[in-house]
Amino acid sequence: MKEYHPPLGDREGLRLDFNENTQGCSPRVLERLRGLNGEALAKYPVREKGEVVVAAHLGVSTDELLLTNGTDEAIHLVCETYLQPDHEAIVVVPTFAMFEIYAAATGARVISIPAGQDFAFPTPSVLDAINERTRLIAVANPNNPTGTFVPLSDLMDMARAAPNAAVLVDEAYFEFSGETIAPGWREAPNLFVSRTFSKAYGMAGLRIGVLMGDRDQMGMVRRASSPYNLNSVALACLPDALADRDYVQKYVADTIEGRAQLEHELHKFGTTETTELHGGSTEELRFWPSRANFVLTHLGENCKSFVANMRERGILVRDRSADYGCKDCVRITVGAREHNDRLLSALREVFTELEVREKVAR
Ligand SMILES: Cc1ncc(COP(=O)(O)O)c(C=O)c1O
Repeated sequence: MKEYHPPLGDREGLRLDFNENTQGCSPRVLERLRGLNGEALAKYPVREKGEVVVAAHLGVSTDELLLTNGTDEAIHLVCETYLQPDHEAIVVVPTFAMFEIYAAATGARVISIPAGQDFAFPTPSVLDAINERTRLIAVANPNNPTGTFVPLSDLMDMARAAPNAAVLVDEAYFEFSGETIAPGWREAPNLFVSRTFSKAYGMAGLRIGVLMGDRDQMGMVRRASSPYNLNSVALACLPDALADRDYVQKYVADTIEGRAQLEHELHKFGTTETTELHGGSTEELRFWPSRANFVLTHLGENCKSFVANMRERGILVRDRSADYGCKDCVRITVGAREHNDRLLSALREVFTELEVREKVAR
């Protein structure tokens, strides 16, 4: 069975390698943290209070939602609730590794379907793969590491085509795409949507995720969860994180602008058009337009040197070569304005060093 070991070793520098928020959480959250006392920590956490606040924020009822220890736990709980060894779980690769890991941990068979050209989601192949053993279809939307987006109507089609399967739509990057399938479970009760406070909200270290779905289904999932899965510190900070809307909105706007700038810069050196399947078969610089807070770029033979030379400049980016179809691809996170500026000037320097030339100069 696959294990996931995040390469978190030495992460000194500008963190553009894990799609985290580059500037950190709202100052209001930090103020709350400083105000916590021993009494607050001595008590067991009351998750339900946090659920009332988050449900109001998301416009759903409290029985349609469960707070989880990050999205990771949401995925884990959905797998534990719906999968058994004689079942099948469908994932489209490349995608977020935890789908496969948690699904396989239940003993279920994982059916990996390769993405189409330019990592397009192969909806017809997924529909074809559905059978009576299918109990989970997990989709990250936008997807990690590609940044691609599945049309919401395709997700609804899959949910309707597999009424006995949980269809989990992981919207960890929702704030950057601005498009959601929630509350689609009111039409298709087998649909679940997860969100996280790890990305736009800058709270990955506090581990807060949300799983939403049909009331009855959520009742089943809740049974599998620990009552104290969220700690008191995370719960104390949640209302402040949600209340500081301006902070998150500004961060998201800066990120979307930075993503456009990065894509514009990459466009000078490469292309988004393809004649080959994915990027691995050509040495050309390629990138895939993204709906998330990162851009996947194919750098060919320059991949390893690019990562190393950026690190020399104190900027961490992630080599995704090990992912299906991503050979020689690097994923670059964008974030706060000053960090995007640093990224772009380092990227230009490294491209010059590696003799990656602008298209017009070729
Ligand atoms: C698609 C996707 N889902 C979930 C996560 C993890 O989220 P969390 O920190 O809430 O567990 C990530 C993190 O990279 C991700 O890319």
